[in-house]
Amino acid sequence: MLRNSEDFWRETWGEHMPLYRSRPPRQGMYLELLFPEKSWTFLELAAGSMRDANYLAERGYQVTGSDYVPEVVSSAREAYRDSRLETRVIDAFDTKVADDTFDVSYHNGLLICFSSDSDIEALVREQARITRKYMVATVPCAYHEEQRRQFAELAPQNPIYDIRWLTLDDISRFLAPYGCTKVYPFGGRLDSRLLPGRSFGWLPLCVRRWVYRSLCPHQRLRRWKKIIAVTQVGDD
Ligand SMILES: C[S@@+](CC[C@H](N)C(=O)[O-])C[C@H]1O[C@@H](n2cnc3c(N)ncnc32)[C@H](O)[C@@H]1O
Repeated sequence: MLRNSEDFWRETWGEHMPLYRSRPPRQGMYLELLFPEKSWTFLELAAGSMRDANYLAERGYQVTGSDYVPEVVSSAREAYRDSRLETRVIDAFDTKVADDTFDVSYHNGLLICFSSDSDIEALVREQARITRKYMVATVPCAYHEEQRRQFAELAPQNPIYDIRWLTLDDISRFLAPYGCTKVYPFGGRLDSRLLPGRSFGWLPLCVRRWVYRSLCPHQRLRRWKKIIAVTQVGDD
């Protein structure tokens, strides 16, 4: 499994950052479907490229993008210098952030970096502590067999694909102690079409949001590319 360390990520990002920054900020687009309230404050932990945090900032949300590698944070500051995005160096295990600071906290691809359950438990505990309303964890979908095969083929050349796969039971075991936890698709057939620039992206946000939240969770799990787990930790 990939060895999560600052040096690993410094080196990995040195190579892959331009590719990541060129990809559509889909996590940000899904968060917009889930949380349309622009007065809420958002924190992205382990944000890497920070393209999703930047997308939300450009859409008018109050967003802080963070990562524990200082060079990754300064690279985002430089890349998005004209944006309203705030950036900070934050270690997700020990954020030094006061209780209940952000309405929504999220990360995409963080939990899969840890083989030890106690690491994941510590991360989730800290995330819940600093979050007022919803905490979000996005992970590649363990039930998408084709994707698992692709990751297994790529892993020997690139450890970024050598990840921990989390089942729905794992997700529930780690997150449900902090509040009602629901899972939503990322990269399924219908939900993909609801995103800006896709076939149903022109529909009003309230309609896309309704379809996403009500219908899309019923799509076949093995077609989801990622699972977005949303835990309500406090009142709306
Ligand atoms: C898979 S990448 C996330 C990619 C990101 N979602 C994106 O789209 O660019 C994982 C990130 O987690 C960060 N990370 C790992 N451990 C961390 C920790 N303890 N605190 C904060 N960030 C951490 C790494 O520096 C890396 O940028």
